[in-house]
Amino acid sequence: MRHIAVINQKGGVGKTTTAASLGAALALHKRRVLMVDLDPQAHLTLHFNAEPGQDDLTVYEILTRSASAADALVNLGEYLCLIPAHTDLVAAESELVSVVGREVILRDALERFADRYDYLLIDCPPSLGILTLNALAAVTELLIPLQPHFLALQGLARLFETVSLVQARINPELRVCGIVLCLFEGGTRLAGEVVEDLRRFLEAARGTGTPWSEASVFKATIRRNIKLAECPGHGLSIFDYAPRSNGAQDYRALAEELINQAEPPAAVDELPTDEVQVGEQSPAVSDQAVRAAVAGGPNPSTQVAVEVALPPAAAPQSAEPAPSPSNTVTTVA
Ligand SMILES: Nc1ncnc2c1ncn2[C@@H]1O[C@H](COP(=O)(O)OP(=O)(O)O)[C@@H](O)[C@H]1O
Ligand SMILES: [Mg+2]
Repeated sequence: MRHIAVINQKGGVGKTTTAASLGAALALHKRRVLMVDLDPQAHLTLHFNAEPGQDDLTVYEILTRSASAADALVNLGEYLCLIPAHTDLVAAESELVSVVGREVILRDALERFADRYDYLLIDCPPSLGILTLNALAAVTELLIPLQPHFLALQGLARLFETVSLVQARINPELRVCGIVLCLFEGGTRLAGEVVEDLRRFLEAARGTGTPWSEASVFKATIRRNIKLAECPGHGLSIFDYAPRSNGAQDYRALAEELINQAEPPAAVDELPTDEVQVGEQSPAVSDQAVRAAVAGGPNPSTQVAVEVALPPAAAPQSAEPAPSPSNTVTTVA
């Protein structure tokens, strides 16, 4: 059983597409998958045409009204389930601000319930607020979609800083299982340079004990493919909409790599070759809110020194001066 958050505080990098397509791919491998839509934009919910009706429960009621995960569950297929979101989830960030233990509500709601599944996949919002903090507390692994472009690595440094704090204060088991390159356009010099910098950075982190010290870039890269952008409009997974597309191939490869991380290669089932079975911004609760929430965690006295030193991102030829913060982020909390 693996509990994974698909996370990157930047919007438009492929989080929801990855949660949806990876979930569907794992289900094709007969892995029982529970997806949770934790983004007030509810794009994962829309992707599967699973918009809640007036009386249906969603992740909002789980977070703010103590609803049970079972009561909010939507079955999408034999192996695929979703806890949907509604745009009212946007209110949860402010409603939870003064709630004691607000960062572990989702973890507690999914405890035991998620054990029925082989994979829990949480689609995170494009921010580092209380919703994201709930995802970080509820999982043990982080899968980071990254679009390789200028400043992508600076964004990663900020994310790693938060991940370190959460690991130190709330969730000691938290680790990065890998970075997946999305919307990838191979052959461009910039993409090549960013990926090279990223690999060097991860290599340098080996054995350091940081949550990303065992992480690597997945061999499967997700190429830019119009079918991936089209399939949500039809309420279908990429495997139902365009099973032979590059998008379907790439997410199939990612699912197999993920499965092989934990299971021996022989455990990956044979897939049918073509037939398949499976059916901007949330309110800015800033990093400060995360720090405040983390500071109120179980070990407020813990001293944590985080140093995330990333190599300079490949700058475009006519680059403007790189905005601060600089490539080195040092936090002492
Ligand atoms: N590999 C891809 N090829 C083409 N379009 C993609 C790809 N991945 C995502 N998209 C499209 O890009 C947009 C942003 O992707 P999305 O997964 O919603 O990102 P995020 O959840 O990080 O905001 C969406 O319109 C999506 O359909
Ligand atoms: Mg999204």
